[in-house]
Amino acid sequence: MQISFMLRFADPTLVPPLPRRAAWENEGMPIASTRRFSPRVKAALIGAMIVALAIATWLIPPHAVVLHNILHHLNILPLMLAGMIFGWRGALKALVLATVLQSPSIYRHWHRMPVDAQDQVVELSTFGAAGVIAGIVADRERMQRLRVEATKLELERVYTELSANIQQMKKTERLTAAGQLAASLAHEIRNPLASISGAAGILARGQAPVASREECLDILMKESLRLNKLLTNFLDFARPRLPRFQRTEPVSVIQSVAVLTQHVATRQNVELRQQIPLKLREIDCDPEQIKQVLLNLILNAVQATEEHGTVVIRSMLERDRLCVEVVDEGHGIPSEDLERIFDPFFTTKENGTGLGLAIAANIIAQHGGALTCRPNTDRRMGMVFRVELPFERPPVSSFESKPERADLS
Ligand SMILES: Nc1ncnc2c1ncn2[C@@H]1O[C@H](COP(=O)(O)OP(=O)(O)O)[C@@H](O)[C@H]1O
Ligand SMILES: [Mg+2]
Repeated sequence: MQISFMLRFADPTLVPPLPRRAAWENEGMPIASTRRFSPRVKAALIGAMIVALAIATWLIPPHAVVLHNILHHLNILPLMLAGMIFGWRGALKALVLATVLQSPSIYRHWHRMPVDAQDQVVELSTFGAAGVIAGIVADRERMQRLRVEATKLELERVYTELSANIQQMKKTERLTAAGQLAASLAHEIRNPLASISGAAGILARGQAPVASREECLDILMKESLRLNKLLTNFLDFARPRLPRFQRTEPVSVIQSVAVLTQHVATRQNVELRQQIPLKLREIDCDPEQIKQVLLNLILNAVQATEEHGTVVIRSMLERDRLCVEVVDEGHGIPSEDLERIFDPFFTTKENGTGLGLAIAANIIAQHGGALTCRPNTDRRMGMVFRVELPFERPPVSSFESKPERADLS
């Protein structure tokens, strides 16, 4: 539906057709519309000027050459006005009227001062032509104005329809997301629940040997821990809190996460390297949320890396944004999974929740930034996850409108 709006709008033939009548005929819409006088009154005033000039020219004795000259030149006024107000047809009609009314004086002059009379004819024709040209220009201007007005109206209509459509789509998307989440959560809970009820069943019978009782208890502990983790993560995702922005020293945030993850990396024999400038400009962010994001990214990178591999955390300034990259040399992500890694519950790990990246993406969006990933082309293996953050807090709307999923609770 949206596309059809765009097509409609892009098709110039669909802009409402413009009236082809001349301005003179279209009296309801004069060009230079000063609202004080109606078009009829204006036409009457122009006509009166032409008549008055003709009468004055007739009455003033022929030897008053200067006065005659002035009167002839004054003819330009009604002709230009007619062109500007009523278009080229208006100017033409004014010219015809002036010619008819001036012809007795011209005829009278023709016998006594033929050169003067010829001058009058040339002048009147020139003024008439000037009026017609002014009319053509005014007509064009009017057409353009009408076209712009029509386009503006069309734009407003399309905008209103689009906004209504987007609202509708947002609502539908939210409902779909809620349904999908509920379905995924039910699916995720089913496995641990089955293990728990199986283990509980064995324990309830009370005849199991000690070893299997211990195994059952172990399963109960592990699976309930898994359920707890899943629910905590799910709630983090479904009801993300808004960031609590504060001026933050980015280096200390990045380093504290590196310290936190160091022991996990060491346990897996992965080297964690930092390439961070000694000092970076302070940034407006929620340090706890940014730590959560970096923690997710670094843990993912370490988990994807083989023993003796390296994970690099580097940070730089780009296009006046703070960029933090987590670079690994791990197994990478197959292209068919790339689109899905930010989807909630998408995981390829046995014990994964698939919520880490979805939560991280939400947090970064609320900060007005971007979370992206690409293959690590330097090493031909592994991935680069990149967080881009603006230094200043984004306008309220950008982080209030984004977490649609916050409404799911
Ligand atoms: N650095 C990485 N290298 C390879 N795969 C990754 C990396 N980071 C994320 N992934 C993939 O994205 C999936 C989703 O990650 P995430 O949302 O953090 O959930 P989880 O870690 O619980 O699986 C992971 O299961 C993994 O397949
Ligand atoms: Mg993860």
